[in-house]
Amino acid sequence: MTTRYRVEYALKTHRRDQLIEWIKGLMAVPFVLHSQPTAIFEPRKESTEHMTAVAQRRYLEIMRDVEELINDHIAHQKAGTHDRSKLKMLVPAVGIFFTPLNLHDAFLYQDNRRFISYRRFVAPSFNDIRLILNTAQVMSLVRAGPLELVTFDGDVTLYDDGQSVSPDSPMIPRIMQLLMKGTKIGIVTAAGYTEARRYYERLHGLLDTVHESDLPSIYKENLIIMGGESSYLFKFSSADPDRLKFVPRETWLLDEMKMWQESDITTLLDLAELALKDSLRNLRLDGQILRKERAVGIVPKPGHKFCREALEETVLVTQKILEISAVGRRLPFCAFNGGNDVFVDIGDKSWGVRACQGFFNGIDASKTLHVGDQFLSAGSNDFKARLACTTAWIANPTETVQLLDEIAELDGLVERKNR
Ligand code: IMP
Ligand code: MG
Repeated sequence: MTTRYRVEYALKTHRRDQLIEWIKGLMAVPFVLHSQPTAIFEPRKESTEHMTAVAQRRYLEIMRDVEELINDHIAHQKAGTHDRSKLKMLVPAVGIFFTPLNLHDAFLYQDNRRFISYRRFVAPSFNDIRLILNTAQVMSLVRAGPLELVTFDGDVTLYDDGQSVSPDSPMIPRIMQLLMKGTKIGIVTAAGYTEARRYYERLHGLLDTVHESDLPSIYKENLIIMGGESSYLFKFSSADPDRLKFVPRETWLLDEMKMWQESDITTLLDLAELALKDSLRNLRLDGQILRKERAVGIVPKPGHKFCREALEETVLVTQKILEISAVGRRLPFCAFNGGNDVFVDIGDKSWGVRACQGFFNGIDASKTLHVGDQFLSAGSNDFKARLACTTAWIANPTETVQLLDEIAELDGLVERKNR
Protein backbone atom coordinates (compact mmCIF):
# COMPACT_ATOMS: atom_id res chain seq x y z
CA MET A 1 0.00 0.00 0.00
CA THR A 2 2.75 2.41 0.96
CA THR A 3 4.58 1.83 -2.29
CA ARG A 4 1.42 2.16 -4.31
CA TYR A 5 0.54 5.35 -2.47
CA ARG A 6 3.97 6.81 -3.16
CA VAL A 7 3.89 5.95 -6.84
CA GLU A 8 0.27 6.85 -7.54
CA TYR A 9 -0.16 9.82 -5.30
CA ALA A 10 2.94 11.30 -3.69
CA LEU A 11 5.13 10.95 -6.73
CA LYS A 12 2.74 11.56 -9.54
CA THR A 13 0.18 14.17 -8.56
CA HIS A 14 2.69 16.96 -9.08
CA ARG A 15 2.89 15.89 -12.72
CA ARG A 16 -0.88 16.10 -13.25
CA ASP A 17 -3.30 18.96 -13.36
CA GLN A 18 -6.39 17.76 -11.54
CA LEU A 19 -8.88 20.03 -13.29
CA ILE A 20 -7.62 19.07 -16.74
CA GLU A 21 -7.53 15.36 -15.87
CA TRP A 22 -11.06 15.54 -14.50
CA ILE A 23 -12.43 17.25 -17.64
CA LYS A 24 -10.52 14.71 -19.74
CA GLY A 25 -12.30 11.93 -17.83
CA LEU A 26 -15.71 13.53 -18.49
CA MET A 27 -14.95 13.89 -22.20
CA ALA A 28 -13.89 10.26 -22.43
CA VAL A 29 -17.52 9.18 -21.94
CA PRO A 30 -19.01 10.67 -25.14
CA PHE A 31 -15.82 9.64 -26.94
CA VAL A 32 -16.33 6.02 -25.96
CA LEU A 33 -20.07 6.08 -26.60
CA HIS A 34 -20.27 8.13 -29.79
CA SER A 35 -16.96 8.29 -31.61
CA GLN A 36 -17.20 4.97 -33.38
CA PRO A 37 -14.00 3.72 -34.96
CA THR A 38 -16.25 1.36 -36.95
CA ALA A 39 -17.46 4.35 -38.97
CA ILE A 40 -14.47 3.87 -41.27
CA PHE A 41 -16.15 0.68 -42.50
CA GLU A 42 -19.43 2.46 -43.15
CA PRO A 43 -20.06 3.15 -46.83
CA ARG A 44 -22.42 6.07 -46.19
CA LYS A 45 -20.86 9.47 -45.52
CA GLU A 46 -23.86 10.65 -43.48
CA SER A 47 -23.06 8.23 -40.71
CA THR A 48 -19.70 9.93 -40.07
CA GLU A 49 -21.33 13.34 -40.14
CA HIS A 50 -24.03 12.15 -37.80
CA MET A 51 -21.46 10.68 -35.42
CA THR A 52 -19.47 13.92 -35.41
CA ALA A 53 -22.58 16.00 -34.73
CA VAL A 54 -23.68 13.77 -31.86
CA ALA A 55 -20.20 13.69 -30.31
CA GLN A 56 -19.90 17.48 -30.60
CA ARG A 57 -23.30 18.01 -29.02
CA ARG A 58 -22.35 15.80 -26.08
CA TYR A 59 -18.95 17.45 -25.66
CA LEU A 60 -20.64 20.86 -25.67
CA GLU A 61 -23.14 19.77 -23.04
CA ILE A 62 -20.27 18.75 -20.79
CA MET A 63 -18.53 22.05 -21.38
CA ARG A 64 -21.69 23.93 -20.47
CA ASP A 65 -22.04 21.87 -17.28
CA VAL A 66 -18.42 22.53 -16.25
CA GLU A 67 -18.91 26.22 -17.04
CA GLU A 68 -21.86 26.24 -14.63
CA LEU A 69 -19.94 24.39 -11.93
CA ILE A 70 -17.26 27.08 -12.20
CA ASN A 71 -19.92 29.82 -11.93
CA ASP A 72 -21.23 28.11 -8.81
CA HIS A 73 -17.67 27.94 -7.43
CA ILE A 74 -17.27 31.67 -8.10
CA ALA A 75 -20.54 32.36 -6.26
CA HIS A 76 -19.15 30.35 -3.33
CA GLN A 77 -15.88 32.33 -3.50
CA LYS A 78 -17.87 35.55 -3.15
CA ALA A 79 -19.69 34.13 -0.14
CA GLY A 80 -16.41 32.90 1.36
CA THR A 81 -17.49 29.25 1.15
CA HIS A 82 -15.59 28.00 -1.90
CA ASP A 83 -14.27 25.09 0.17
CA ARG A 84 -17.81 23.77 0.02
CA SER A 85 -18.55 24.22 -3.67
CA LYS A 86 -19.54 21.20 -5.72
CA LEU A 87 -16.50 21.68 -7.96
CA LYS A 88 -14.19 21.69 -4.93
CA MET A 89 -15.61 18.33 -3.89
CA LEU A 90 -15.14 16.89 -7.36
CA VAL A 91 -11.68 18.43 -7.92
CA PRO A 92 -10.10 19.12 -4.51
CA ALA A 93 -7.02 20.84 -5.97
CA VAL A 94 -9.09 23.51 -7.70
CA GLY A 95 -8.14 27.05 -6.68
CA ILE A 96 -9.62 30.49 -7.27
CA PHE A 97 -11.30 31.60 -10.50
CA PHE A 98 -10.97 35.32 -11.14
CA THR A 99 -13.43 35.20 -14.07
CA PRO A 100 -15.99 32.75 -15.44
CA LEU A 101 -14.73 30.58 -18.31
CA ASN A 102 -16.51 30.52 -21.69
CA LEU A 103 -15.91 26.79 -22.11
CA HIS A 104 -18.82 26.10 -24.47
CA ASP A 105 -17.72 28.70 -27.01
CA ALA A 106 -14.06 27.83 -26.50
CA PHE A 107 -14.75 24.19 -27.34
CA LEU A 108 -16.38 25.21 -30.62
CA TYR A 109 -13.42 27.46 -31.41
CA GLN A 110 -10.83 24.74 -30.76
CA ASP A 111 -12.98 22.03 -32.37
CA ASN A 112 -12.80 24.02 -35.61
CA ARG A 113 -9.02 23.95 -35.38
CA ARG A 114 -8.26 20.58 -33.78
CA PHE A 115 -11.25 18.55 -35.07
CA ILE A 116 -11.79 16.95 -31.68
CA SER A 117 -15.35 15.75 -32.43
CA TYR A 118 -14.26 14.31 -35.76
CA ARG A 119 -11.73 12.02 -34.16
CA ARG A 120 -12.59 8.37 -33.70
CA PHE A 121 -9.34 6.90 -32.45
CA VAL A 122 -7.83 9.64 -30.31
CA ALA A 123 -9.88 10.84 -27.34
CA PRO A 124 -9.88 14.48 -26.15
CA SER A 125 -6.37 14.85 -24.78
CA PHE A 126 -4.61 16.81 -22.08
CA ASN A 127 -3.41 19.28 -24.73
CA ASP A 128 -6.89 19.66 -26.26
CA ILE A 129 -8.29 20.58 -22.87
CA ARG A 130 -5.37 22.83 -21.92
CA LEU A 131 -5.94 24.80 -25.13
CA ILE A 132 -9.73 24.92 -24.64
CA LEU A 133 -9.17 26.33 -21.15
CA ASN A 134 -6.76 28.96 -22.55
CA THR A 135 -9.29 30.00 -25.21
CA ALA A 136 -12.11 30.06 -22.64
CA GLN A 137 -9.98 32.32 -20.43
CA VAL A 138 -9.10 34.83 -23.13
CA MET A 139 -12.70 34.85 -24.44
CA SER A 140 -13.95 35.75 -21.02
CA LEU A 141 -11.24 38.40 -20.47
CA VAL A 142 -11.75 40.06 -23.86
CA ARG A 143 -15.56 40.00 -23.71
CA ALA A 144 -15.54 41.59 -20.24
CA GLY A 145 -12.82 43.96 -21.67
CA PRO A 146 -10.49 45.67 -21.58
CA LEU A 147 -7.61 43.34 -20.76
CA GLU A 148 -5.37 45.71 -18.80
CA LEU A 149 -2.19 43.76 -18.06
CA VAL A 150 -0.55 40.79 -19.77
CA THR A 151 2.47 39.27 -18.03
CA PHE A 152 4.72 36.82 -19.82
CA ASP A 153 7.19 34.29 -18.55
CA GLY A 154 10.52 34.36 -20.47
CA ASP A 155 12.11 30.97 -21.27
CA VAL A 156 9.86 28.65 -23.35
CA THR A 157 7.08 31.30 -23.41
CA LEU A 158 8.64 34.23 -25.29
CA TYR A 159 11.70 32.38 -26.63
CA ASP A 160 13.09 28.85 -26.64
CA ASP A 161 14.88 27.73 -23.47
CA GLY A 162 18.01 29.82 -22.95
CA GLN A 163 17.48 31.81 -26.18
CA SER A 164 16.40 35.43 -26.68
CA VAL A 165 13.80 37.61 -28.46
CA SER A 166 15.60 38.33 -31.73
CA PRO A 167 14.53 41.23 -33.99
CA ASP A 168 12.60 38.86 -36.30
CA SER A 169 10.64 37.18 -33.47
CA PRO A 170 6.92 36.82 -34.34
CA MET A 171 6.25 37.84 -30.74
CA ILE A 172 7.27 41.46 -31.42
CA PRO A 173 4.44 42.71 -33.70
CA ARG A 174 1.88 41.04 -31.44
CA ILE A 175 3.22 42.60 -28.25
CA MET A 176 3.44 45.95 -30.07
CA GLN A 177 -0.23 45.61 -30.98
CA LEU A 178 -1.12 45.14 -27.32
CA LEU A 179 0.99 48.14 -26.29
CA MET A 180 -0.67 50.23 -29.00
CA LYS A 181 -4.06 49.48 -27.46
CA GLY A 182 -2.79 50.70 -24.10
CA THR A 183 -2.40 47.22 -22.58
CA LYS A 184 0.34 47.05 -19.98
CA ILE A 185 3.00 44.39 -20.49
CA GLY A 186 5.12 42.77 -17.78
CA ILE A 187 7.77 40.16 -18.40
CA VAL A 188 7.81 38.15 -15.17
CA THR A 189 10.81 35.87 -15.34
CA ALA A 190 12.82 33.83 -12.87
CA ALA A 191 16.01 35.05 -14.52
CA GLY A 192 17.41 37.25 -11.78
CA TYR A 193 19.94 39.95 -12.60
CA THR A 194 20.70 43.35 -11.15
CA GLU A 195 22.03 44.77 -14.41
CA ALA A 196 19.75 45.93 -17.23
CA ARG A 197 22.27 44.62 -19.78
CA ARG A 198 21.45 40.98 -18.97
CA TYR A 199 17.76 41.56 -19.75
CA TYR A 200 18.64 43.56 -22.85
CA GLU A 201 20.61 40.52 -24.08
CA ARG A 202 17.48 38.36 -23.70
CA LEU A 203 14.92 40.86 -25.01
CA HIS A 204 16.86 43.16 -27.36
CA GLY A 205 14.59 42.52 -30.38
CA LEU A 206 11.52 43.69 -28.47
CA LEU A 207 13.23 46.54 -26.60
CA ASP A 208 14.83 47.98 -29.77
CA THR A 209 11.53 47.76 -31.67
CA VAL A 210 9.69 49.63 -28.91
CA HIS A 211 12.51 52.20 -28.83
CA GLU A 212 12.42 52.80 -32.59
CA SER A 213 8.61 52.83 -32.86
CA ASP A 214 6.49 55.97 -32.89
CA LEU A 215 4.43 54.79 -29.92
CA PRO A 216 3.70 57.67 -27.53
CA SER A 217 6.21 57.51 -24.70
CA ILE A 218 3.51 56.88 -22.07
CA TYR A 219 2.65 53.69 -23.94
CA LYS A 220 6.31 52.69 -24.20
CA GLU A 221 6.56 53.02 -20.44
CA ASN A 222 3.82 50.41 -20.11
CA LEU A 223 6.52 47.78 -20.68
CA ILE A 224 8.21 46.48 -17.53
CA ILE A 225 10.35 43.53 -16.54
CA MET A 226 10.15 41.74 -13.20
CA GLY A 227 13.22 39.55 -12.72
CA GLY A 228 14.08 36.87 -10.14
CA GLU A 229 10.33 36.04 -9.85
CA SER A 230 9.59 39.12 -7.73
CA SER A 231 12.98 40.67 -6.95
CA TYR A 232 14.17 43.15 -9.61
CA LEU A 233 11.97 45.64 -11.45
CA PHE A 234 13.01 47.46 -14.63
CA LYS A 235 10.92 49.76 -16.77
CA PHE A 236 11.35 50.66 -20.41
CA SER A 237 13.47 53.75 -20.92
CA SER A 238 14.48 55.07 -24.35
CA ALA A 239 17.17 57.24 -22.79
CA ASP A 240 19.19 54.27 -21.51
CA PRO A 241 21.55 52.33 -23.78
CA ASP A 242 20.02 49.03 -22.59
CA ARG A 243 16.52 50.52 -23.00
CA LEU A 244 15.72 49.73 -19.36
CA LYS A 245 15.84 51.62 -16.12
CA PHE A 246 16.20 49.90 -12.75
CA VAL A 247 13.32 50.78 -10.42
CA PRO A 248 14.48 50.89 -6.78
CA ARG A 249 12.86 48.18 -4.71
CA GLU A 250 11.51 50.47 -2.01
CA THR A 251 9.34 52.28 -4.59
CA TRP A 252 7.37 49.21 -5.69
CA LEU A 253 7.52 46.62 -2.89
CA LEU A 254 4.10 45.61 -1.63
CA ASP A 255 3.48 46.05 2.09
CA GLU A 256 3.66 42.30 2.77
CA MET A 257 6.98 42.08 0.90
CA LYS A 258 8.43 44.78 3.13
CA MET A 259 8.05 42.33 6.01
CA TRP A 260 10.50 39.84 4.49
CA GLN A 261 13.56 39.89 6.77
CA GLU A 262 17.08 39.94 5.31
CA SER A 263 18.15 37.43 7.98
CA ASP A 264 15.38 35.03 6.85
CA ILE A 265 16.44 35.44 3.23
CA THR A 266 20.02 34.43 4.12
CA THR A 267 18.84 31.51 6.28
CA LEU A 268 16.56 30.18 3.56
CA LEU A 269 19.21 30.46 0.86
CA ASP A 270 21.79 28.77 3.14
CA LEU A 271 19.41 25.88 3.72
CA ALA A 272 18.57 25.62 0.02
CA GLU A 273 22.27 25.65 -0.83
CA LEU A 274 22.92 22.75 1.55
CA ALA A 275 20.06 20.76 -0.01
CA LEU A 276 21.29 21.48 -3.53
CA LYS A 277 24.85 20.49 -2.58
CA ASP A 278 23.52 17.20 -1.24
CA SER A 279 21.77 16.47 -4.55
CA LEU A 280 24.87 17.47 -6.46
CA ARG A 281 26.83 14.88 -4.50
CA ASN A 282 24.21 12.12 -4.26
CA LEU A 283 23.16 12.24 -7.90
CA ARG A 284 26.75 12.86 -9.13
CA LEU A 285 25.53 15.91 -11.04
CA ASP A 286 28.09 17.44 -13.36
CA GLY A 287 27.30 20.97 -12.31
CA GLN A 288 28.03 23.70 -9.82
CA ILE A 289 26.25 25.80 -7.24
CA LEU A 290 25.45 29.37 -8.22
CA ARG A 291 24.63 31.61 -5.26
CA LYS A 292 23.09 35.02 -5.90
CA GLU A 293 21.71 37.81 -3.74
CA ARG A 294 18.17 36.40 -3.92
CA ALA A 295 18.57 32.93 -5.38
CA VAL A 296 20.66 29.80 -5.34
CA GLY A 297 20.81 27.19 -8.07
CA ILE A 298 22.61 24.30 -9.69
CA VAL A 299 23.81 25.03 -13.21
CA PRO A 300 25.43 22.46 -15.52
CA LYS A 301 29.07 22.52 -16.51
CA PRO A 302 29.38 23.96 -20.05
CA GLY A 303 27.89 21.62 -22.64
CA HIS A 304 26.40 19.23 -20.08
CA LYS A 305 22.75 18.19 -20.04
CA PHE A 306 21.14 16.97 -16.81
CA CYS A 307 18.53 14.21 -17.15
CA ARG A 308 14.93 15.04 -16.29
CA GLU A 309 14.81 12.59 -13.40
CA ALA A 310 17.82 14.16 -11.68
CA LEU A 311 16.39 17.66 -12.11
CA GLU A 312 13.03 16.61 -10.70
CA GLU A 313 14.53 14.67 -7.81
CA THR A 314 16.64 17.71 -6.88
CA VAL A 315 13.64 20.06 -6.99
CA LEU A 316 11.35 17.79 -4.98
CA VAL A 317 13.93 17.03 -2.28
CA THR A 318 14.91 20.69 -1.95
CA GLN A 319 11.31 21.86 -1.90
CA LYS A 320 10.40 19.37 0.83
CA ILE A 321 13.36 20.38 3.00
CA LEU A 322 12.46 24.05 2.68
CA GLU A 323 8.73 23.48 3.16
CA ILE A 324 9.19 21.80 6.52
CA SER A 325 11.73 24.33 7.78
CA ALA A 326 10.68 27.18 10.06
CA VAL A 327 12.03 29.82 7.69
CA GLY A 328 10.25 28.21 4.72
CA ARG A 329 6.97 28.79 6.48
CA ARG A 330 7.73 32.47 7.07
CA LEU A 331 9.11 33.41 3.68
CA PRO A 332 7.73 32.66 0.19
CA PHE A 333 10.18 30.87 -2.08
CA CYS A 334 10.08 29.03 -5.36
CA ALA A 335 12.05 25.87 -6.16
CA PHE A 336 11.78 24.92 -9.82
CA ASN A 337 13.22 22.88 -12.65
CA GLY A 338 14.42 25.29 -15.34
CA GLY A 339 14.90 22.61 -18.01
CA ASN A 340 18.64 22.23 -17.49
CA ASP A 341 19.11 23.88 -14.11
CA VAL A 342 17.39 24.00 -10.72
CA PHE A 343 16.85 27.25 -8.85
CA VAL A 344 15.46 28.31 -5.52
CA ASP A 345 14.33 31.94 -5.65
CA ILE A 346 13.13 34.19 -2.85
CA GLY A 347 9.52 35.14 -3.57
CA ASP A 348 7.52 33.70 -6.45
CA LYS A 349 5.53 34.77 -9.50
CA SER A 350 2.36 35.47 -7.50
CA TRP A 351 4.34 38.25 -5.83
CA GLY A 352 5.92 39.20 -9.14
CA VAL A 353 2.55 39.61 -10.85
CA ARG A 354 1.02 41.39 -7.85
CA ALA A 355 3.92 43.82 -7.76
CA CYS A 356 3.38 44.56 -11.49
CA GLN A 357 -0.34 45.14 -10.81
CA GLY A 358 0.64 47.48 -7.98
CA PHE A 359 3.23 49.30 -10.10
CA PHE A 360 0.46 50.18 -12.56
CA ASN A 361 -1.66 51.58 -9.72
CA GLY A 362 -3.56 48.47 -8.78
CA ILE A 363 -4.78 46.45 -11.74
CA ASP A 364 -7.37 43.85 -10.80
CA ALA A 365 -6.65 40.10 -10.96
CA SER A 366 -9.65 39.70 -13.29
CA LYS A 367 -8.05 42.15 -15.77
CA THR A 368 -4.64 40.48 -15.75
CA LEU A 369 -3.45 37.46 -17.75
CA HIS A 370 -0.19 35.62 -17.06
CA VAL A 371 1.13 33.48 -19.92
CA GLY A 372 3.63 30.76 -18.99
CA ASP A 373 4.79 27.21 -19.58
CA GLN A 374 5.31 25.92 -16.01
CA PHE A 375 2.00 25.11 -14.34
CA LEU A 376 2.60 21.80 -12.59
CA SER A 377 2.05 22.03 -8.85
CA ALA A 378 5.65 21.26 -7.82
CA GLY A 379 8.89 22.27 -9.49
CA SER A 380 7.17 24.82 -11.72
CA ASN A 381 7.39 28.56 -11.31
CA ASP A 382 4.40 29.94 -13.26
CA PHE A 383 2.01 27.88 -11.11
CA LYS A 384 2.11 30.48 -8.32
CA ALA A 385 0.87 33.20 -10.69
CA ARG A 386 -2.54 31.51 -10.45
CA LEU A 387 -2.89 33.12 -7.02
CA ALA A 388 -2.60 36.60 -8.50
CA CYS A 389 -4.42 36.59 -11.83
CA THR A 390 -5.93 34.57 -14.68
CA THR A 391 -3.49 32.39 -16.60
CA ALA A 392 -2.85 30.69 -19.92
CA TRP A 393 -0.68 27.57 -20.05
CA ILE A 394 1.33 27.34 -23.25
CA ALA A 395 3.77 24.59 -24.26
CA ASN A 396 6.13 26.59 -26.50
CA PRO A 397 6.60 30.07 -28.03
CA THR A 398 4.52 29.11 -31.11
CA GLU A 399 1.52 28.57 -28.85
CA THR A 400 2.13 32.00 -27.28
CA VAL A 401 1.93 33.51 -30.78
CA GLN A 402 -1.33 31.61 -31.42
CA LEU A 403 -2.76 32.80 -28.11
CA LEU A 404 -1.91 36.43 -28.90
CA ASP A 405 -3.57 36.02 -32.31
CA GLU A 406 -6.66 34.64 -30.59
CA ILE A 407 -6.76 37.70 -28.32
CA ALA A 408 -6.44 40.04 -31.32
CA GLU A 409 -9.12 38.14 -33.25
CA LEU A 410 -11.56 38.15 -30.31
CA ASP A 411 -10.83 41.79 -29.65
CA GLY A 412 -11.67 42.60 -33.28
CA LEU A 413 -14.96 40.70 -32.99
CA VAL A 414 -15.94 42.52 -29.80
CA GLU A 415 -15.04 45.89 -31.35
CA ARG A 416 -17.09 45.23 -34.49
CA LYS A 417 -20.06 44.21 -32.36
CA ASN A 418 -19.86 47.38 -30.30
CA ARG A 419 -19.61 49.65 -33.32
P1 IMP B 1 11.82 31.92 -16.88
O1 IMP B 1 11.33 30.72 -17.65
O2 IMP B 1 11.75 33.18 -17.67
O3 IMP B 1 11.14 32.05 -15.55
O4 IMP B 1 13.41 31.75 -16.63
C1 IMP B 1 13.96 30.66 -15.93
C2 IMP B 1 15.41 30.51 -16.24
O5 IMP B 1 16.17 31.67 -15.89
C3 IMP B 1 16.06 29.43 -15.40
O6 IMP B 1 15.87 28.16 -15.95
C4 IMP B 1 17.53 29.82 -15.39
O7 IMP B 1 18.20 29.24 -16.50
C5 IMP B 1 17.53 31.33 -15.58
N1 IMP B 1 17.99 32.06 -14.39
C6 IMP B 1 18.97 32.95 -14.37
N2 IMP B 1 19.11 33.49 -13.16
C7 IMP B 1 18.19 32.94 -12.37
C8 IMP B 1 17.82 33.13 -11.00
O8 IMP B 1 18.39 33.94 -10.26
N3 IMP B 1 16.79 32.38 -10.55
C9 IMP B 1 16.13 31.51 -11.35
N4 IMP B 1 16.43 31.32 -12.62
C10 IMP B 1 17.46 32.03 -13.15
MG1 MG C 1 9.44 29.37 -18.57
